[in-house]
Amino acid sequence: MKTALQTTGLLDIESLDRSEIESILERARYFQPLQNESFRRSDTLRGKMIVNLFFEASTRTRVSFEIAARRLGADAVSIAAQGSSVSKGESLVDTLNTLAAMRPNAIVMRHSASGAPHFLARHLSMPIVNAGDGTHEHPTQALLDALTILGRRPKLEGLRVAIIGDIAHSRVARSNVHLLSKFGSEIVLCGPPALLPRELASLAPGVRLAWDMNEAIQGADVIMMLRVQLERQHEAPMSAGEYFRFYGLRPEHIALAKPDVLVMHPGPINRGRELSSEVADSQSSVILNQVENGIAVRMAVLERILA
Ligand code: NCD
Repeated sequence: MKTALQTTGLLDIESLDRSEIESILERARYFQPLQNESFRRSDTLRGKMIVNLFFEASTRTRVSFEIAARRLGADAVSIAAQGSSVSKGESLVDTLNTLAAMRPNAIVMRHSASGAPHFLARHLSMPIVNAGDGTHEHPTQALLDALTILGRRPKLEGLRVAIIGDIAHSRVARSNVHLLSKFGSEIVLCGPPALLPRELASLAPGVRLAWDMNEAIQGADVIMMLRVQLERQHEAPMSAGEYFRFYGLRPEHIALAKPDVLVMHPGPINRGRELSSEVADSQSSVILNQVENGIAVRMAVLERILA
């Protein structure tokens, strides 16, 4: 019998159970490269075709899915919506029906509308992988973040994780909250009042809110910084300087956290807005490890869906 992942694909973290997450992470560990070696290859997906359909800008996520597909022996085709018929006014359903007629085995998609991949999964028969939908979820990001943390900590349970920045518009924050909460982490969400709505406290068990950065970081094992989503903000945003003064991560904050704190960011980073260069390039930063782990996690996800 096919699993939910094999029929609908990976749409969000919220509906995944712990054992499914654990098996993806275990398989991702197998794909992680050893020091100075390249990623393991396999040909479990030979003959399969994966279409990456990106309606929003992306560098690391799109490339990472492409590499992951190729490392598994699949054919990967990437389409940027700007250069496709979508920019000529074709509706989402028409575009997808056209692609579906070419019979890919799976579609990886990023879209600015929350829920777009869920909508498509109801209309198309092939599995869909959500590569970020609006402000809703970015499931493979949360999986690669968990893999990165677990490379340096024995378990997620009991870890204090501060997620800081534009929480309101962050699909990365939502997916991470769901995942970390399932594994018993203590989560503090922190950001300027306009970007941290109170209802987020009830997103999942184990979440509290803080508007003061020092309070959020006190005793943290992990600090996850977020990009300010200017493209999703409707009101006049704070200037970069003002934002940095109140919510930019600097060395003095690191001193408040656990001594071996991990500093994370999904990228793209804005130095001088979300974090200082000293912190971005410090020993605590695992930002490039996150990028590397993204390939291993996406290999594990594609394999579970398609093999
Ligand atoms: C994130 C995204 O697009 O949601 N980036 C990514 O996938 N690495 C975060 C962001 O753009 O701020």
